[in-house]
Amino acid sequence: MSTQPNVKIAPATGKLGILVPGMGAVTSTFIAGVEAVKRGLGQPVGSLTQLGTVRLGKRTDNRVPRIKEFVPLAPLECLAFGTWDIYEDDAYQAASRAKVLDRPLLEQLEEPLSAIKPMKAVFDHEYVRNINGPNVKQGKTKMEMAEALMQDIRDFKRNNGCNRLVMIWCGSTEVHHKPAAVHQSVEAFEKGLCENDAEISPSQIYAYAALKLRVPFANGAPNLTTDTPALLALARENEVPICGKDFKTGQTFMKTLLAPGFKARMLGLNGWFSTNILGNRDGEVLEDPGSFKSKEETKLSVLQQILQPDLYPMLYSDLYHAVRINYYPPRGDAKEGWDNIDIFGWLGYPMQIKIDFLCRDSILAAPLVLDLVLFLDLAQRAGMKGIQEWLSFYFKGPMTAPGLYPEHDIFIQLMKLKNTLRWMQGEELITHLGLEYYD
Ligand SMILES: NC(=O)c1ccc[n+]([C@@H]2O[C@H](COP(=O)([O-])OP(=O)(O)OC[C@H]3O[C@@H](n4cnc5c(N)ncnc54)[C@H](O)[C@@H]3O)[C@@H](O)[C@H]2O)c1
Repeated sequence: MSTQPNVKIAPATGKLGILVPGMGAVTSTFIAGVEAVKRGLGQPVGSLTQLGTVRLGKRTDNRVPRIKEFVPLAPLECLAFGTWDIYEDDAYQAASRAKVLDRPLLEQLEEPLSAIKPMKAVFDHEYVRNINGPNVKQGKTKMEMAEALMQDIRDFKRNNGCNRLVMIWCGSTEVHHKPAAVHQSVEAFEKGLCENDAEISPSQIYAYAALKLRVPFANGAPNLTTDTPALLALARENEVPICGKDFKTGQTFMKTLLAPGFKARMLGLNGWFSTNILGNRDGEVLEDPGSFKSKEETKLSVLQQILQPDLYPMLYSDLYHAVRINYYPPRGDAKEGWDNIDIFGWLGYPMQIKIDFLCRDSILAAPLVLDLVLFLDLAQRAGMKGIQEWLSFYFKGPMTAPGLYPEHDIFIQLMKLKNTLRWMQGEELITHLGLEYYD
């Protein structure tokens, strides 16, 4: 039985501009994919917004609309794309270089893709050490850079006739850093921008520019970015939804499928060794220990949170968990991830599981980018602001309110996401109690 909608959602009229810092493998695969789907050249496999459904009411009610028909999402025909990168390659050249998609498909998309040329980036070699490119902004202070980005955003909106915008970071992984004094308040952050504080990273300058202009922001990489009191406060003050961080795609996606299963059956774990080879530019950047440290943090935290060793010390407190990433150019974007899992069962008897996932990183990430931008736009039209925990489903390191531990179990995350959609539309939340079927 539906009730009154809990929230008023403004309609998705006009164009939605998608702004992406970083035009690498993920971004070019995402944009090319949207253009391909629009032309009937492929299907949006992996995208919940395009293919998913949501059950409403009782199991016997037979009400299972598609998500995109249940909530008002921007249609693919109404998306426009703008990017920034340190390299000058347009989306066609970037996609050709990334070698994720086949030539014949790309050739059919040459016209729309070559029209998307990256704007000059805000870049700092101290934060991404293994690459360098010519397409960068010059400015005396970080505040000048932020203002230049805001000008890019306004120009993009006007030139493309957009009604609304969303920004998603698909740039390289920045080196690991912790919130510093400059990140403690909006005032301190703005002062730091004017004084070129070394603790402010490029991704934070993009995020600041977005939040100042009330553009929702998602972080696809493990960088600190909006995970600071200053930018969280700005998001809330300006009533902008944000989410992050680090797309949950290959190996960690597998972990969040398996680990809840082991825990559900009270099976023990004493070792999980994960190693990867990948040869794309992301792999090259992750060769730098600073960038790898950012990645390692989000990858390692997942198991601890899911297994709760404090509640189940006998099963999980001796877990040895290691994650390695090796840059191996011959494989390009076609990553291979191995997992060796040492589990134990009844009376402590040991068993082993081996996974060899021959995956395609950007093929897995592209539909996540699409879902995130459409859901963030929906969140903004629904008046939601600050951290959007219901979008944890998409991330290795979900952002949460300070002091709250993140939920990593993908099935709980999916339930949370769908319940949020039901809540938005005033539908009953589904608890799976199900006693009513037996009354
Ligand atoms: N593909 C996946 O499955 C996956 C999963 C989780 C996270 N990620 C993250 O997503 C991001 C993108 O991945 P990718 O495979 O497309 O990497 P990529 O190296 O192909 O693309 C990143 C692009 O960002 C650009 N860049 C770096 N700093 C920039 C800046 N300050 N401003 C503008 N552009 C900048 C680089 O020049 C590069 O072209 C990476 O951080 C990666 O770790 C990817």
